[in-house]
Amino acid sequence: MPEHGRWTVVVHGGAKTIAPELSARNRAGCTAAAAAAAAVLSRGGSAAAATEAALRRLEDDPVFNAGFGSVLNGDGEVEMDAAIMDGTTLAVGAVAGVRRAPNPARIARALLHEHTVLLAGEGAERFATECGIPLCDAREMISNEALASENAQAHDTVGCVALDMHGALAAGTSTGGLPGKLPGRVGDSPLPGCGLLADDRVGAVAFSGDGESIIRTTLAAHVMHALELGRGAAAAAETAIERLGRVGGEAGAIVIDPEGGVGIAHNSTHFALAVHTDSLKKPVAAIGRHELQELLDG
Ligand code: GLY
Repeated sequence: MPEHGRWTVVVHGGAKTIAPELSARNRAGCTAAAAAAAAVLSRGGSAAAATEAALRRLEDDPVFNAGFGSVLNGDGEVEMDAAIMDGTTLAVGAVAGVRRAPNPARIARALLHEHTVLLAGEGAERFATECGIPLCDAREMISNEALASENAQAHDTVGCVALDMHGALAAGTSTGGLPGKLPGRVGDSPLPGCGLLADDRVGAVAFSGDGESIIRTTLAAHVMHALELGRGAAAAAETAIERLGRVGGEAGAIVIDPEGGVGIAHNSTHFALAVHTDSLKKPVAAIGRHELQELLDG
């Protein structure tokens, strides 16, 4: 259990190659998302609420492949996946193939209160309507076609892990998936044990990267297993990226342990990141874990 009042949040905007002209926008977007989560955590809010706040900020920023920046599938349409897991109750709220939701993370969080874990397509949208969560026309989601095709140069997913001042952990993901994907294809992001996991007793993890590779290697489950074996958050994140080598592919992981220890690993050229804690004055953002470490050490 962390000392009373301590909180930590890590967000990522995707494991990818970031064109130099998009670097500042990636940093700014991750900074804003970490600040949104910090606003919740610093007033005693829950890790799950903070995770939703961060994901929604990333979904609203079209530089990221989630929400309004989602890439298009093979039919030229947007189909989004998202999930949030609460490490206290082990509840999971996940949605897949959503087309008319500006903020799929909002539906995912609402689903945490239900017994159902995963809702797909129109079922998820109907549930959103019942919860009073606004939807939009599917065409509005593809209005950022120019940026979506820019994002298509490098797929990614957004994610967040958070530890609140009550010792609760949460993890969340949101994505437009892979550019040109088969219509109906679902990636790792809404699948607990693959794209995310959270357990107050062990840690929380969220991934970005090649969904099929992450699913086949059940990467989130392996991160948690490494944490249970007593490996630290940094080593647990590394373990996952090493395991990915069995099938190949690109990925990035953000990990947080119950004491607020942070682990980050990626085999992509870049990984848009931001970290904020109760002991920092403002979020620290970077394009890759080495840069982040230098900034935190400096
Ligand atoms: N990691 C996101 C996806 O493959 O759909």
